[in-house]
Amino acid sequence: RALAILKEFEEKCGSPISKLKQVADAMTVEMHAGLASEGGSKLKMIISYVDNLPTGDEKGLFYALDLGGTNFRVLRVQLGGKESRVVKQEFEEVSIPPHLMTGSSDALFDYIAAALAKFVATESEGLHVSPGRQRELGFTFSFPVRQTSISSGALIKWTKGFSIDDTVGQDVVGELTKAMERVGLDMRVAALVNDTIGTLAGGRYNNPDVVAAVILGTGTNAAYVERAHAIPKWHGLLPKSGDMVINMEWGNFRSSHLPLTEYDQALDVESLNPGEQIFEKIISGMYLGEIVRRVLCKMAEEAAFFGDTVPPKLKIPFILRTPHMSAMHHDTSPDLKVVGTKLKDILEIFNTSLKMRKVIVELCDIVATRGARLSAAGIVGILKKLGRDTVKDGEKQKSVVALDGGLYEHYTKFRTCMENTLEELLGKEVSKNIVIEHSNDGSGIGAALLAASHSQYLEFEE
Ligand code: BG6
Ligand code: GLC
Repeated sequence: RALAILKEFEEKCGSPISKLKQVADAMTVEMHAGLASEGGSKLKMIISYVDNLPTGDEKGLFYALDLGGTNFRVLRVQLGGKESRVVKQEFEEVSIPPHLMTGSSDALFDYIAAALAKFVATESEGLHVSPGRQRELGFTFSFPVRQTSISSGALIKWTKGFSIDDTVGQDVVGELTKAMERVGLDMRVAALVNDTIGTLAGGRYNNPDVVAAVILGTGTNAAYVERAHAIPKWHGLLPKSGDMVINMEWGNFRSSHLPLTEYDQALDVESLNPGEQIFEKIISGMYLGEIVRRVLCKMAEEAAFFGDTVPPKLKIPFILRTPHMSAMHHDTSPDLKVVGTKLKDILEIFNTSLKMRKVIVELCDIVATRGARLSAAGIVGILKKLGRDTVKDGEKQKSVVALDGGLYEHYTKFRTCMENTLEELLGKEVSKNIVIEHSNDGSGIGAALLAASHSQYLEFEE
């Protein structure tokens, strides 16, 4: 019985190449629709107001603040221009107390501003802002924001584990600025960016061939460089560069071709944001472990997989996190010791047989494989939109995709599967020109670089 449940789940999660190609095509179609008009697609295709990516000339001391991943981070970066690049950086990581993720806007922003003020107070002799200058900040805010300029924008909705009603519709830079005033911190937000945009900027700083950035972490999303004249909904001036970076918000992608199961449906209905972020809910780190838990629960309830009673802990939503799942999935010991330990420590399930453990590893594999293969299909959708999914006349033009996020960084089997699927989808020849590059914490540096290129002091220096 338990095996039948597993088999059925595996079939529903199936992602053969034919299906992935349909997903990639659907992604390209939705990209066009989202660029055509506001509300034209589930893909918001947000105009970031970043029309110039870092060149290496950026100079000065800048702050960055990164909210929306596992941890909230503050950074101080000294940029030295072409010759010396990032001269020095210091950062601090703070976790956001869970109650603030669903509390009030003021409480969250006060907490952030206080942490930032504390960090600013540690400016040392070696790393401080020039006298008489206002400190400037690049604010990485990893949620969908309707940007109104490079340094302002209204929150469209919260995603991942956040849900604070009174922030929705507000200018998040305004919220942060008010909170900074309340704690007596004099700092100007020079750039407001999504983490994908920060990662793209940080990636481009290190490699001029970077054309897109993808986050595979708590949530998932992508950004890429579009030609401004290919954005019908953009009514502003044509930027000098001719480019405009687009934050796709691909987590909200949805298509009839996605392999969805009853477990995904139930997870969605019971989530903080029902009906939203469907692509994200089958790919990203916040949800993979939870999907595994739900299938295990069904196996326990309907097939007595763990004996006569359902282990009580197994009924607790989100108790099995993706890092636990990853540890079980990577267990190479002959008796699957790690699986046994995780079941014991997290779910209080004792005495599991080797056969049961093997079933659990298999389950992890099904869930991770589906997510990894779908994320590869998403990347192919972007490459298609850019016309970089084929090789023209033996062209050797490299397309680099900057990748970041805990799922990509720490879940090896997920990463490998994603990269292999990409090659499978593109073919050997094209794959030679596509490079996936880990942009470690690029989004913080990226935000600081964009703050530098939008500094209020820029004109005086040139
Ligand atoms: C970090 C980026 O490296 O990855 C963040 O700097 C981003 O901006 C994060 O939000 C996503 O990863 P995770 O796994 O912490 O959600
Ligand atoms: C969620 C957010 C998006 C972010 C992504 C990765 O999908 O909506 O803005 O980029 O998570 O952190």
